[in-house]
Amino acid sequence: MSANDRPTGQQQTSTAVAESAFLKACRREPVPHTPVWFMRQAGRSLPEYLKLREGIPMLDSCMRPDLVTEITLQPVRRHKVDAAIFFSDIVVPLRAVGVDLDIKPGVGPVIGQPIRTRADLDRLRLLEPDDVTYVTEAVGTLVGELGATPLIGFAGAPFTLASYLVEGGPSRNHEHTKALMYGDPDLWADLLDRLADITAAFLKVQIEAGASAVQLFDSWAGALAPSDYRRSVLPASAKVFDAVAGYGVPRIHFGVGTGELLGLMGEAGADVVGVDWRVPMDEAGRRVGPGRALQGNLDPAVLFAPREAVETKAREVLDAARDLPGHVFNLGHGVLPSTDPDALTRLVEFVHTETAR
Ligand code: CP3
Repeated sequence: MSANDRPTGQQQTSTAVAESAFLKACRREPVPHTPVWFMRQAGRSLPEYLKLREGIPMLDSCMRPDLVTEITLQPVRRHKVDAAIFFSDIVVPLRAVGVDLDIKPGVGPVIGQPIRTRADLDRLRLLEPDDVTYVTEAVGTLVGELGATPLIGFAGAPFTLASYLVEGGPSRNHEHTKALMYGDPDLWADLLDRLADITAAFLKVQIEAGASAVQLFDSWAGALAPSDYRRSVLPASAKVFDAVAGYGVPRIHFGVGTGELLGLMGEAGADVVGVDWRVPMDEAGRRVGPGRALQGNLDPAVLFAPREAVETKAREVLDAARDLPGHVFNLGHGVLPSTDPDALTRLVEFVHTETAR
């Protein structure tokens, strides 16, 4: 073999990533074991995370590549999960285009001036890669550090971002958001379209820097009836998925309370549909239909029960998912802040042992 034919380290690494259980499951190929990772595995309960973050505001930490790299790696080292999720937040791209916002501990994202009029929307500009050089840098470093472990990039979906922007902060009923959606459909469509462009640009930055999969978080889409989702939300989410289709990386689509929307969330263009704990995986598979893998769906609160109960419930998830063409084990929503990290480590080991083929 001449020096020119020899694969470089980078190429060898990408082959190993492509052959990982996580990417195989996303592609609905046979896997050596069911892959597992946890939404919100980075940050939250880990003592090493809390120590690192001491005195550093959340959004500041997202803009420091050294911190982002370390926090992303922490759960991979500790739990031996099959994928890393990039440490950031769904509101990072909004802040990067100049939206006046902050993440308040125990509250969530809070917006200085909510978007409710055409003039407000006119101030929301598109995202350029130069706005988020810290993301490009951190992803690049991470891809080297992670070796054969895939990195998942992510963004908030247009509806969930719109909810924060229109409400001005977290909301139970999304009343201002829905008032705009029903009351001014043209402004609503333009807002979601602008957010789709921002989200697509943010995902492209992560993929081009080396992320091997992306997840679109439409956390609050479950607040919508299917007909409203189809008319007023799906076109914008589909635009995001279309914009990154050409890269060939798996696209995961997740929301909470979306049992009635699972088919539509697949139709929006996902390769993998995320399922919360309210719908069993076999039923979710029927609702999503053929041609897509599924991700989920242990209730995150189960991790507070004794070990035997966690294993019983995890086995129920695995049994229900047995005949799916592709299954990525995950929680039905993010890790709850006071979860015992050891319960997560044990769960990863349990899923791996239980499904080893
Ligand atoms: O492992 C990971 O998932 C880490 C990266 C990540 C964060 N937020 C870090 C974070 C991801 C993927 C998110 C996504 C996110 N952010 C979503 C979608 C996922 C979901 O849970 O439905 C949403 C809706 C947000 C908005 C947001 N940001 C909320 C609701 C909160 C929690 C507020 C609180 O303190 O309870 C945040 C803050 C946030 N994002 C923290 C972290 C680690 C906590 C920050 C802190 O402790 O200061």
